[in-house]
Amino acid sequence: MLSAKDNELMCRTNADTAMGQAMRHFWIPALLSSELPEPDCDPVHVELLGGNFVAFRNSEGEVGILDEMCCHRGASLTTGRAEKCGLRCIYHGWLFAADGTVLETPNVADERFKTRFKAKSFPVKEAGGIVWTYLGEAENLPPFYDFPFIGAPAEKLLSTVQIVGCNYIQVLEGLLDSSHLSLLHISQFKQDNLADIKFVQNTGHMQHNTAPLIEAQETEFGLHYGAQRIFGDTSETNVTAFISPFFILNPNDIYMAIVPMTDEKCAFYSVWYDGERDYGLDPLRTDQLHTVGLDRLEEYGMTRKSFYTQAAGSRANGFRQDRAQVRAGHHTGMGSFVQEDALICVSAGGLRDREYEHLAPADMAIAQMYRVLLKSAKQVAAGGKPIAHQMSVASLRGGRFSVPVGTDWRTLVPGNLPQTKSVA
Ligand code: FES
Ligand SMILES: [Fe+2]
Repeated sequence: MLSAKDNELMCRTNADTAMGQAMRHFWIPALLSSELPEPDCDPVHVELLGGNFVAFRNSEGEVGILDEMCCHRGASLTTGRAEKCGLRCIYHGWLFAADGTVLETPNVADERFKTRFKAKSFPVKEAGGIVWTYLGEAENLPPFYDFPFIGAPAEKLLSTVQIVGCNYIQVLEGLLDSSHLSLLHISQFKQDNLADIKFVQNTGHMQHNTAPLIEAQETEFGLHYGAQRIFGDTSETNVTAFISPFFILNPNDIYMAIVPMTDEKCAFYSVWYDGERDYGLDPLRTDQLHTVGLDRLEEYGMTRKSFYTQAAGSRANGFRQDRAQVRAGHHTGMGSFVQEDALICVSAGGLRDREYEHLAPADMAIAQMYRVLLKSAKQVAAGGKPIAHQMSVASLRGGRFSVPVGTDWRTLVPGNLPQTKSVA
């Protein structure tokens, strides 16, 4: 359990909170590159850490992220037009460059007027199929991440985003909880038409052992944990790493980031990458998306736009559960791994209370994550830096291993073990 005070400290990320300030020390995924598919395409409303922004791709293909509200008189720039290498507010036609420079103010005769100020803009990088930004102070700007997928060719990558209507911690909890795979997702594993992809190969055994032995270890970057399921002489071992404050490296070659949009909504990014497989090409791309349900996000109300429709699961629509299917034997009455994970997180409430909870041995990694995040927020509140700030992440891994019973899972991921890892 967590006290209400600690729960607030861990979960809330607006600018006036300690965790919000900790998050503002990191490059953060803002949207997928594919959400801005071409030069001068429609701008996109981006919510991050309780703030509202607009992202656009200018005539030269460069992405800009600005405060959403026009610095003239506050109209939303999400209604604007990308043109002439800028984003034009449709109210009075002011035109802003990606770096916030005011290019035109057509309702002002004095040409010098526009040189007196700039729109608030934020640094941008595009990598791994994701547009990243940085919302913090310039003096805390870290070097960019050195994840192995950064700079990889598009055919090796598959990047997705799901919009989930709950606090980011609730999604992170599910990703640090191996035992739910054997239970919540049991009917998904029993489908007979699952593609023969690594995710299925790596997780199929879980349906035969619902109580894995979980051990967690605090690390310099956050924590990692091992989930061991014993079958005869073999330990089927999954190692997952949590890089504070929001990255998960899971055993199936997926790099994940769970980014707070508001305190009750988050964006769940996944990048599939192992350096070998063509995750960006068919058939692997389609098989991967379809098997877990990521090709149905529109239907589930889990895209940036459909989130605001009745398609999104809520108490009002019974969390989209098909009770007839449940009566007929399906464990959840939900359509896919993705929908089950999202709806179960949402069903707990926008930002759930943790005073009543009773964590079990299977929740050891979750309890460790609470400790890491609280420590990080408190460090920042005391004037220090957050955990994992400016760290190299190049050697960090999740992993899937079949090893003899008794093998120490920590030895399977030597790149995660304590060592000084700073990026220059
Ligand atoms: S409010 Fe945007 S140009 Fe006037
Ligand atoms: Fe799950």
